[in-house]
Amino acid sequence: MDKIAISLTVNGRLRQALVPSRMLLSDFIRHELALPGTHVGCEHGVCGACNLLVDGKAVRSCLMFAVQLDGSTITTVEGFGQDDLHPIQHAFWEEHGLQCGFCTPGMLAAAKELLDHNPDPTDEEIREAIAGNLCRCTGYQYIINAIRSAAAKLRTAETEAA
Ligand code: FES
Ligand code: FES
Repeated sequence: MDKIAISLTVNGRLRQALVPSRMLLSDFIRHELALPGTHVGCEHGVCGACNLLVDGKAVRSCLMFAVQLDGSTITTVEGFGQDDLHPIQHAFWEEHGLQCGFCTPGMLAAAKELLDHNPDPTDEEIREAIAGNLCRCTGYQYIINAIRSAAAKLRTAETEAA
């Protein structure tokens, strides 16, 4: 099968590769780039576990081909906190927003997209933002608490930096 050259930025690093035209973005990220933090659950666009950020927008990596991402900027869970936990990750840890952690990378991507655009969301807006992400463990309330707490942390950090 012919391969196609792609070039994209992943977690701040330029990556170039030759990929089969039908290689899924989730497979490219996990197997070609060795970034297994992006989890694959249903592989049908249902669970949200495979969500990552493409140009700041949370997308399901199991529903995209790697070749579609040529020229894009991607952030996976490995790119959230480079030296320390990102404030959103820290809030999930503090607020018990995860148990098994399988859904967490996708939840973090959804939370990041939300908080980048809405720094002070209501609980209803948080619920809406994670409506496409399934969690079999937490019952969701701890995740909502974590995202609310992350929003407060990020607002405080922004105020202190001003
Ligand atoms: S693995 Fe992509 S949505 Fe479930
Ligand atoms: S923490 Fe287990 S699926 Fe969400």
